Amino acid sequence: MSAEIDPVKLMKQEVAKAAADRVKSGTIVGLGSGSTAAYAIEFLGNRLQSGQLKDIQGVPTSFQSEVLAKQYGIPLTTLDATDHIDVAIDGADEVDPQKNLIKGGGAAHTREKLVDSLATQFIVVVDSTKLVEHLGSTFLLPVEVLPMAISPVMRAIEKLGGKPELRMGVRKAGPVITDQGNMVIDVKFESIANPAELEKTLNNIPGVLENGLFVGVTDLVLVGEVKDGKPVIREF
Ligand code: 5RP
Repeated sequence: MSAEIDPVKLMKQEVAKAAADRVKSGTIVGLGSGSTAAYAIEFLGNRLQSGQLKDIQGVPTSFQSEVLAKQYGIPLTTLDATDHIDVAIDGADEVDPQKNLIKGGGAAHTREKLVDSLATQFIVVVDSTKLVEHLGSTFLLPVEVLPMAISPVMRAIEKLGGKPELRMGVRKAGPVITDQGNMVIDVKFESIANPAELEKTLNNIPGVLENGLFVGVTDLVLVGEVKDGKPVIREF
């Protein structure tokens, strides 16, 4: 009996490959975080190794993407050493019809927003399960917070109508600690009517580093879908 292929994994791989294929030689590439971005990093490494792609440098958005880039032979640079990023490829937890996002499922949204928003072209790679009509309908909104500010920030978020919970580690006792040494609060909002306003309001709470709303940052969304058993890529 043939092994079952996981359709979500297949969609992630195909969409990541489609994005990696768009990267041109000689460019600076923002390297996203999460499982879909990880496939994109792997495919970029494959293209470099085969000689199809030359002279790229990556700017990682997390320890995860830094480790993967080293593993797949992608030279790295920093925001001190380069004054631009040509293209960034990153995943998302939710994408709305205006291409606004919720990110931060991997607690990497602070660096992701920095790198993705600096890119001349920001390409989002998702499987079709990530498409929503309204942000916040399937995924809690991650907010990175200074450890000493957890209680006041939670109270401020409750006043805004959100239900905050501290993200706890898996196979790690205690809270998740971000790559910057902070903690993450995941917030349930009944509805996010105005993502642009909420993004600013949350970032104005003292002690908040960054939240996972990415508004007006995305240039292109590549969506992986399985149709009639075959993976197809759609863009919007
Ligand atoms: C990490 C992220 C990821 O890009 C997002 O969680 C999507 O991950 P995946 O591709 O594994 O579904 O924002 O902070």
